[in-house]
Amino acid sequence: AASSPSSSSAIVVASSSSKSKSKAALAFVKRRTRSEREFDEEYMKKYGDEDSHIPVMLGEVMDVFDSSSSSFRLRSFVDCTLGAAGHSCAIIQAHPELQTYIGLDVDPVAHEEAQSRINNMLNSTPACSSTNLKAHMLLKNFKEIKQAIGQVDEKLLLSGVDGILMDLGMSSMQVDDPRRGFSMLNNGPLDMRMDPKGSLKAEDILNSWPPTEVGKILQEYGEESNWYSLQNKIVKARLGGGFHTTGDLVDLIRGSTSRVKGGRQGWIKTAARVFQALRIAVNDELKTLENSLYNCFDCLSPGGRLAVISFHSLEDRIVKQTFLNIINNIPRKDDTIIEEGGFGAEPKEFNYYPGEKEVWIKQVVKGSSGVILTKRPITATPKEEKLNSRCRSAKLRVIQKM
Ligand SMILES: C[S@@+](CC[C@H](N)C(=O)[O-])C[C@H]1O[C@@H](n2cnc3c(N)ncnc32)[C@H](O)[C@@H]1O
Repeated sequence: AASSPSSSSAIVVASSSSKSKSKAALAFVKRRTRSEREFDEEYMKKYGDEDSHIPVMLGEVMDVFDSSSSSFRLRSFVDCTLGAAGHSCAIIQAHPELQTYIGLDVDPVAHEEAQSRINNMLNSTPACSSTNLKAHMLLKNFKEIKQAIGQVDEKLLLSGVDGILMDLGMSSMQVDDPRRGFSMLNNGPLDMRMDPKGSLKAEDILNSWPPTEVGKILQEYGEESNWYSLQNKIVKARLGGGFHTTGDLVDLIRGSTSRVKGGRQGWIKTAARVFQALRIAVNDELKTLENSLYNCFDCLSPGGRLAVISFHSLEDRIVKQTFLNIINNIPRKDDTIIEEGGFGAEPKEFNYYPGEKEVWIKQVVKGSSGVILTKRPITATPKEEKLNSRCRSAKLRVIQKM
C-alpha cells in the first residue's frame, strides 16, 4: 500500500538482473488515487457492524451520489449488492429526494438481512417515512438488473435510473459462515455458491472437472504460478476419495507449498489464490461482471452514475476496460447476452459539468457516450485501511452517462 495520502502514480523500474524480476517489476505499475476524504469512523459504525458487514469506502460512495455538490439528483437508485445494506441505508437516509430504491442480492441470507434493516430504518426514521420513497428489495442476480427495474416500474426502465452501486465480492456474513465454504480458515463444505440455487459447487470442480480445466482456473482466476503442480496433486487426490471439505483442500495446499518460496506461511497466500479461483469459477463472476456493467450502464438516465468497488486485480481490470469500451461505444464480446426489455433512455444532449465542489473528481476520461470520472481508481484512506483490513484492496471506479 502506498503511504502517500495524495494522488499517486508510481512506476517501479525493473532491476536489470533477471528477466522474471523485470517482468514482475513492469507488471507492478501502480496507478491509483488515494482518497483525500476525512475518514469518519462514527459514520462507518453507524451503518455497519462487525457481526454482519462493515461498508467499505462509505464516505467516498456518498460523495459520488452527493446532490448538494453538483447538479446531480438521485431520484432513483439501484444497489446491485445489498449485503447487509450499509451503503443502501446511508444513501436512503441522505437523499430525501429519492423516489425509487431497488436493492438486489443473489444470496437469500443477505437479502433477508438487508430487507429487515432497510424496513426497520424506514419505519424508525421520520424523515424517511414521510417521503414518497418506494423501496423494493429483490432476490436477484445483478446481471438481471433490467428485469428487476422493469418488474418495479417499466417507465423507469425507459427513463433510466440516476444512480447504481456495485460493491463486489463477499460480505463478512458469507465469509464468516463456515457452512458457505468461502473461508480457508474455518472448516466447512466445499460449496462457495453465492446463490444456493446454483448448480455448481467448488467440490464439483475439484472432484470431477477435467484436469486442464482445473489448471486453467488456477492459472487464470487465481493467478497462481504453481498451478500445474497443484492441478496434478488435485487430480491425484481424487484417487484417494477426493475433496469434501475446505479442510481437505487446505491440507493439500499446505502440504504442497510449505517448502516453496513465500516462507512458512506461504501456503496461506496460495490457499487465498486457490479459494479465489474456485469462487470466481463457481459463481461465473468475471463474465457476469462484464455483462452486468454493460447492462447497468444501459439502465442509467442521462447524467446518471454507476459506481463500482472491486477487490482484486482481475475484477478491477474488467471494470477499467469495460468502462473504456462503454464510453467509446465498443459492444460487449458476446452480444447475444443482451436481454429483452428496455435499453435505458435514448441518448440526449447532456453537458458534463463536474460540480464545483466535487473535489474527489481528479482526472476524467471522456467518450462519446459517457465520462469516466475516475481515470485512476480511488482507494481507501490509510485510517480506514487500519480499521478495516478488507478495504486495503478496494478500488472505486465511477462512470457517468452522457
Ligand atoms: C461486499 S457485499 C456488499 C456489502 C454492502 N454494500 C453493505 O454495505 O453491506 C457483496 C454482496 O453482493 C452479493 N453478490 C455477489 N454477486 C452478486 C450477483 N451477481 N448478483 C447479486 N448479488 C451479488 C453477495 O451475495 C454479497 O451479499
